[in-house]
Amino acid sequence: MEKVIFKVFRFNPERDKKPRFDKYEVPIRNGMTVLDALYYIQGYLDGSLAFRSSCREGVCGSCGMHINGKYRLACETQINRLKSKKITIKPLGHLPVIKDLVVDMTDFWEKYSYIKPYLIAGAPPEENERIQTQDDRNKLDGLIDCILCACCYAACTITDTEKNYLGPAALLKVDRFVEDSRDNNKKERLLTVSGDSGIFRCHTLFNCQEVCPKNLDPTGAIARLKRMAISNTLCFWEK
Ligand code: SF4
Ligand code: FES
Repeated sequence: MEKVIFKVFRFNPERDKKPRFDKYEVPIRNGMTVLDALYYIQGYLDGSLAFRSSCREGVCGSCGMHINGKYRLACETQINRLKSKKITIKPLGHLPVIKDLVVDMTDFWEKYSYIKPYLIAGAPPEENERIQTQDDRNKLDGLIDCILCACCYAACTITDTEKNYLGPAALLKVDRFVEDSRDNNKKERLLTVSGDSGIFRCHTLFNCQEVCPKNLDPTGAIARLKRMAISNTLCFWEK
């Protein structure tokens, strides 16, 4: 059976002085994913290895990590497609390591929560439902599929240099609600992201767009928000 070497980031801040990489030889079969390999390592070679996963099918967003030079979902990355006999795995960047490949997502969730990631509708509709036209619904395509894996957050250079920067995932979600015909909080949302930690921190580097496993375009969403904020001159208002 073909074997691949996995070089895996290991660090337990409670015990280790500094991080290291441990090497494991894993027998692989066709269709096997990086997540399968991590389970093999944990089950047969080293039970102390820590990583996150849940759905194993690209839905829950919990297995984002740095695999051979790029942030990806471990469960959607087939080993054969990496075309390498050596695979290096590191945790998501710009977030503190709890253990090995598990990072503390508190900053990511706090920023996400700050932008109010839910529909804020106006007065109750006269009908029972808040009707959307098909065209209105189409505007949300490409905005509603985020699985909150934080790959974009880890790939963004600004989240590293500017600790308060809201980051691509949260800003994509703002655009998702600004574009929603049923939401009644557009001005407030634009004000929320027009300050020092928001859209104007983005340098349009496209790192987030490049790594998104759902092929979403946070860079484009941020650019749209910038245009809206400028055209409303909201960026000059103090909250
Ligand atoms: Fe993950 Fe893409 Fe959502 Fe970023 S925008 S959290 S990369 S799914
Ligand atoms: Fe759910 Fe990978 S385990 S996205």
